Amino acid sequence: MKSGLCSLISLIYVLSGLMVFAGCSHMQSSHLVINTPKVVGVYPDTDFVLKIAASGSDSLSYSASGLPKGLSVSSDGVITGRIASAGEYDVTLKVSDSIGSRRKDIRIVAGDTLALTPPLGWMTWNMFGANISQQLIIETADAMVEYGLVDVGYDYIIIDDLWCFVRDGEGRMVPDKKKFPDGMQFLADYCHSKGIRLGIYSDAANKTCAGAMGSLANEVIDAKTFAGWRIDYLKYDYCNAPGDRETAIKRYTEMADALKDSGRSIVFGVCEWGVRKPWLWGKDAGGHLWRTTYDIRDSWSLYKKTGGLGILDILDKQVGLSKYAGPGHWNDPDMLVVGLNGQGDSSNAYGAKGCTDTEYRSQMSLWCLLSAPMLISCDIRELPEATWAILTNTKAIAINQDPLGRVADRIYKDGDKEIWSKQLADGSYAAGLLNRSDKPLDITLDFKLLGLSGECEVIDLWDSGFTGRYSQDFTAKVKAHEVVLVKIRGC
Ligand code: GLA
Repeated sequence: MKSGLCSLISLIYVLSGLMVFAGCSHMQSSHLVINTPKVVGVYPDTDFVLKIAASGSDSLSYSASGLPKGLSVSSDGVITGRIASAGEYDVTLKVSDSIGSRRKDIRIVAGDTLALTPPLGWMTWNMFGANISQQLIIETADAMVEYGLVDVGYDYIIIDDLWCFVRDGEGRMVPDKKKFPDGMQFLADYCHSKGIRLGIYSDAANKTCAGAMGSLANEVIDAKTFAGWRIDYLKYDYCNAPGDRETAIKRYTEMADALKDSGRSIVFGVCEWGVRKPWLWGKDAGGHLWRTTYDIRDSWSLYKKTGGLGILDILDKQVGLSKYAGPGHWNDPDMLVVGLNGQGDSSNAYGAKGCTDTEYRSQMSLWCLLSAPMLISCDIRELPEATWAILTNTKAIAINQDPLGRVADRIYKDGDKEIWSKQLADGSYAAGLLNRSDKPLDITLDFKLLGLSGECEVIDLWDSGFTGRYSQDFTAKVKAHEVVLVKIRGC
């Protein structure tokens, strides 16, 4: 059928609320968005778990064509199985509801790299510290599904410090029985059934930062234990370890090798806080991401006052780091503080008292531009509308998950006015116009800064009213502490 006729029928359908007619079922339904990244990595012959992340409707049916042998998709859209041999597999995902359907082509790469786009999910530490439990993880997994966070791409839950204090007679780590009575495999299976992957935490010394069990000299048995529990991610801290870089490289490499030999695809997060410049060696040591700074606090900026790191303080430490990151190896400027609202435990250290929603939105914009892993750290069991709206901006998330995997550079600075920008896989650019000051400011993006000229289309990714065509440059009125996040194309 000709597309013109389809459009006409589509129009009739929109007006009448009737079903799409037979023959036009291939039309993409605009209310549906598939948020699954365009490229996903897994090691050959290891378990694969991927939820088809789609938003826009409450009752979706899912299918996938072109799946490699060994993978299948469940009725609720979770793709599982194992791909026996290395290779790149082009798959078309399809979601439908009673109104229409949408397709998206993705590539599954069975190879030697994971985290081909930055990991998205939730981490226990900032909000809960020691107060972690099986019940919290179950309730959080349920909330991630209920609030549609999995549907926009957040698909890791990571249990941070203080889950293990002893080893069993055979040297295996034993989860704290009071906190995790049914153990980690139970939780991993629970999460996987919802398309969520489970992460865990240890340290490259005998003890972790908060004094729990570390993995030094037990790397092989711990990696095997994690794989046996079907864990998908390890955050590996560096407290109580020697300060020199050589030892850090050795200890991280030992755990990375053990994880690679564990028979499971486990993402490896290096967490030595940027002290030994892990962007220079983290990838070679087997890391898929590395923290670039000390811990983030729930504040816009603290450094000059108390020495703690707020959003801006962390941002400043990302200058010059873009070239070290890319698919499978990311700079990690630490968790999203979005939604903590001053309620967190460790995130309130150094006098941090929370941020405004504008500031939280700015962090989301900046972390999307930085292609940062985005780990939510507030209590998502009770998600205020404003927090939910920030975390589920699928246009911003698409910038974070762009398959080219570039990291934004600061391309302009004039006092409190900054512009951060990166190129995207489709040739367009994402840019963030940041106002660091306490007053509204006009910020102008000269297209020449991006190597562009003439008239360009500017798409406002927070729908603040800036979308349009602009000649030579684009000026936005940017509120105090705001980032105007735009995409620039069609010049
Ligand atoms: C370090 C890390 C934090 C957190 C704590 C846990 O401070 O940087 O992200 O994991 O340890 O003790």
